[in-house]
Amino acid sequence: MADVRASIDLALEPAAAFDVLVEELTIALARFRIRFEPGPGGRVTENAVEVGKVVTWEPAEGFALEWRHATWNPGVVTEMRLRLEPATGGTKASFEHRGWDAAIGEPAELAGWFVGEVLAPLLRASSPVAFGDWFTDRRARRPSGAVARATYLHPLYHYPNFRVILAELSLARDDYLLEVGCGGGAFLKAALHSGCRAAAVDHSAEMVLLAREANRDAVTAGRLDVREGDAAWLPFSDETFTCAAMTGVLGFLPDPVLALAEIRRVLVRGGRVVAMGTDPELKGTPAAPEPMASRLHFYDSAQLQALGRQAGFAEVRVVRRDLQPFAREAGVPEAQLPMFAAGEGGGARFLIARKG
Ligand SMILES: C[S@@+](CC[C@H](N)C(=O)[O-])C[C@H]1O[C@@H](n2cnc3c(N)ncnc32)[C@H](O)[C@@H]1O
Repeated sequence: MADVRASIDLALEPAAAFDVLVEELTIALARFRIRFEPGPGGRVTENAVEVGKVVTWEPAEGFALEWRHATWNPGVVTEMRLRLEPATGGTKASFEHRGWDAAIGEPAELAGWFVGEVLAPLLRASSPVAFGDWFTDRRARRPSGAVARATYLHPLYHYPNFRVILAELSLARDDYLLEVGCGGGAFLKAALHSGCRAAAVDHSAEMVLLAREANRDAVTAGRLDVREGDAAWLPFSDETFTCAAMTGVLGFLPDPVLALAEIRRVLVRGGRVVAMGTDPELKGTPAAPEPMASRLHFYDSAQLQALGRQAGFAEVRVVRRDLQPFAREAGVPEAQLPMFAAGEGGGARFLIARKG
């Protein structure tokens, strides 16, 4: 019998390793539109068809799934098993698909499947292009996982930008604010202190949940609506918002003009937007390190201004702000303050535009 195996040593106690693996597996499968309902009696479904059934569930030790890989051959059942064993410094997690050879038969076909579906994806995932993309997405472009959730709940290093944007927006109670790419909702939380209403989109499902949770009272009170969505296609009607904000997002957008035009579409006449830029001077520094740096688009003042104009805004300007005083005020540790220094160019760029 041929089994397919993968294992990893994790510096986590078995109970913690179990929880992380189950959560990550649930989220990762959801991206492939496969639903994993973990726990005793749980199941795995694809296109509403049951593919897997939990037959044993032992937190901190593992679980087993009865697996039906072929709807056209429902009698054939294999077994998937996650096993956790204490190992020096943590836990060895092993995943095993038992009896997979029966599904394929021919040994050369089994080898072909193993190479094409397991080995090559593993090599690709560990090569610079895909790994750099994974790292960029995971940390910033589409944040996911416990580390990202902790970071974006309290993004201390973004507070200086928030303060500049809030100062420029000068929100009032009758404002209706849109934030594009809200992450964990920390900017929204600060903005809502003004008494305004707000809505936001982010294309990371985890960030949407986090932003809602972080601003639960405002959501419950109907003052905040956070939706999963893309900057290029905002799920709101024309002329809905009085103002908009975007911070830490512009550089990741494949088509920033389209995103700004979308913001313009949903702003009322006279509505304003403040968007933090991505300064070319920061490329490769701790503020925009690799592998993010080579995946970000950077804009100097003229380019930033051109984006606003091409998106159809009537008034467009770029301001530069020294973030260091804001960083100090926000409680950034003294040793990190130089990262926010204005430098020769005169500080971080912000695009400010108004709809005519
Ligand atoms: C670096 S994080 C900044 C989050 C938050 N604005 C902050 O400053 O803490 C970038 C955020 O933009 C979101 N994002 C990136 N591209 C997006 C897109 N095309 N549409 C919607 N959200 C996007 C990401 O999912 C992520 O939450």
